[in-house]
Amino acid sequence: MLWIIDTDAGVDDAIALALPFSPDQQHRHHVLAITTVSGNVHVSKVNLNVGAVLDVLGADVPIYAGCDRPLRERPAHAEEFHGPDGLGGAGLAKTERRPADMHAALAICHLAKAYAGQVGLVTLGPLTNLALACNLDPALPTRISRLVIMGGAWQARGNQTPAAEFNIAVDPESAHVVFERFSNITLLPWEVSLDQMMPLDVFERIRSGRSARARFFAAMTRIVDDWRARFGFAGVPLPDPLAVVVALDEGAIAHALRARVHVDIGHDVGRGLSALDYRNPQPNAHVVTAVDAARAWEMIAAAWA
Ligand code: BDR
Ligand code: CA
Repeated sequence: MLWIIDTDAGVDDAIALALPFSPDQQHRHHVLAITTVSGNVHVSKVNLNVGAVLDVLGADVPIYAGCDRPLRERPAHAEEFHGPDGLGGAGLAKTERRPADMHAALAICHLAKAYAGQVGLVTLGPLTNLALACNLDPALPTRISRLVIMGGAWQARGNQTPAAEFNIAVDPESAHVVFERFSNITLLPWEVSLDQMMPLDVFERIRSGRSARARFFAAMTRIVDDWRARFGFAGVPLPDPLAVVVALDEGAIAHALRARVHVDIGHDVGRGLSALDYRNPQPNAHVVTAVDAARAWEMIAAAWA
């Protein structure tokens, strides 16, 4: 599989980006492109963050800058969790890399056509680029072999609104388009990362490493100590890394439900809700409800060693 990763990096996005570039050969995968989108921070910061992460990973992959705002919603960011720069406020995003001269949505269309049937796409941010790409090329869903989305709250334990998860809540209209067009999505919802947090001993072991990767990890995750103090987390929720884990290694899915996921674009408390219709004869997603945690922590730790 040739991968495209769409991201609003973001601390947990940055952690996720290392997975296909693991020093451990058995976990390495080919990445065609990283596409960026506004979400955790404005896309101009996301571009720098991705560049800085690719620098530390020593990875030669083009970056394509994408949408700077949701389709209809006013822009909403998550700087209180990811720092003003999106990488934990650690001043890490020093990079010479600049995005290539093509919009992310066009790059997704172009690459999916050029490598039809071989492309896997993982989205770690709002679905703005992908919805746009679907409208630019209506055949896009037939060209993408695997679509893995980090988003949604299958039990409606929202983290942005009472019912909605951030990546969906920030741009519900785009999410609605994507869930209507694709018929075989793998969805990694927010609750999995709450129910299966990275244990602190694993987290501290990664942070205490001496490699350039481990030092970068330690610097950008200092802000995670604030999350833990604020929310009393017993571990570290890592939604985007878990999405990339199940993308690269389907065997890491411990349990999934087949359902039609419908995104609410109404204007009341349910806006952005990802509702699961189990009885619908046309399911569009495998909703991951549990991962093989030991396997996931091993892959993430190896990637940052
Ligand atoms: C998602 O929202 C973002 O803040 C994280 O990067 C992740 O993609 C979790 O709800
Ligand atoms: Ca993200």
